[in-house]
Amino acid sequence: MNAAAPDHVRIFDTTLRDGEQSPGCSMSPQQKVVMARALAELGVDIIETGFPASSQSDREAAALIARELRETTLCVLSRCLPGDIEASARVLQAAAKPRLHVFLSTSPLHREHKLRMSREQVLEATARNVAHARSLVDDVEFSTEDGTRTEKDFLAEVISAAIAHGATTINVPDTLGYTTPSEMRALFQRLIAEVPGAKDVVFSAHCHNDLGMAVANSLAAIEGGARQVECTINGIGERAGNCAMEELVMALKVRGAYFDADTRIDTRRLVPTSQLLSRLVGMPVQRNKAVVGANAFAHESGIHQHGMLRHRGTYEIMNPEDVGWPASQMVLGRHSGRAAVAHRMQALGYVLEDDALDRVFAEFKALCEQQRVVEDDDLKRLMQGDAGDD
Ligand code: KIV
Ligand code: ZN
Repeated sequence: MNAAAPDHVRIFDTTLRDGEQSPGCSMSPQQKVVMARALAELGVDIIETGFPASSQSDREAAALIARELRETTLCVLSRCLPGDIEASARVLQAAAKPRLHVFLSTSPLHREHKLRMSREQVLEATARNVAHARSLVDDVEFSTEDGTRTEKDFLAEVISAAIAHGATTINVPDTLGYTTPSEMRALFQRLIAEVPGAKDVVFSAHCHNDLGMAVANSLAAIEGGARQVECTINGIGERAGNCAMEELVMALKVRGAYFDADTRIDTRRLVPTSQLLSRLVGMPVQRNKAVVGANAFAHESGIHQHGMLRHRGTYEIMNPEDVGWPASQMVLGRHSGRAAVAHRMQALGYVLEDDALDRVFAEFKALCEQQRVVEDDDLKRLMQGDAGDD
């Protein structure tokens, strides 16, 4: 008997909207078009292309992308203001699969200090603006900004109003990256179980990374029933960033049996897409970044290299080729052992017997005291030196 297919988790990419809000990461409309094409090829389900009411550049980028990408759902953001919603609807007229995203803060802190609105006013504004958005576009997402720091009963009331007035996706952001994974799982479980109409809409998580938990919290939300995750390439975004798409997608793929959920991302395009974004915004990817960092599949210690030479599963849980790297890397340096040096020498065409290997390995170790990494050319020079000595 075939097991049921894993649940589809929709990937909502917000690199061009929340990601672009990252200090130093702004993109021109043309750069956004290039990035949007790459995201569509990667297989994301929804691309958030911008916030039309915020700038002419956002409107231009969203309109250009809408004309070009016909297969992917394209979403734009609006505050709960009629002018924002109408500006978004105008931009979306050119889109084949439009989604209008409306948000309003719900937490006590935001209600008091940012919005200066009572609970009743937030409820009324949610109902009115979601209904307005729905009168213009069929696919409407509603986000409860700072939702995870909101009183749970009130959060459920706001979500219920949004569903009753036409929202088709409900996004509960952890705007400040404050929540823990177990709290996140419980929150989604509770909302999906208790809110009237919850079973008819898609619940979404939108996690920021202030405490380094954005990916863990998004995975916990999936465990709690979320079937959309909002994320960015390389995790760029406000302050410490958003949930990193490459990490979330590979966690679901590598631990597929655990989550029983998967995405439609072509994972072999993760590294090229990460490098494209890094070039476009001029922000390097940290070397030790999971999945897409230069060190993600690099091994230097002798024990690890020895294990890898026998079976790559000893020190790798994914294949580098599956995420778009050409191969694993054995970096030769101070921590490397004889096995890795002999292996690299063999690849360079030198088959070393025991004594010769002892001698070359000693010279290699001496070289490592002078430089961090020993390259192939250094090894060839060592061998030429040896030949000269004979
Ligand atoms: O972090 C957040 O709350 C947001 C919303 C506007 C969705 O980005
Ligand atoms: Zn955000």
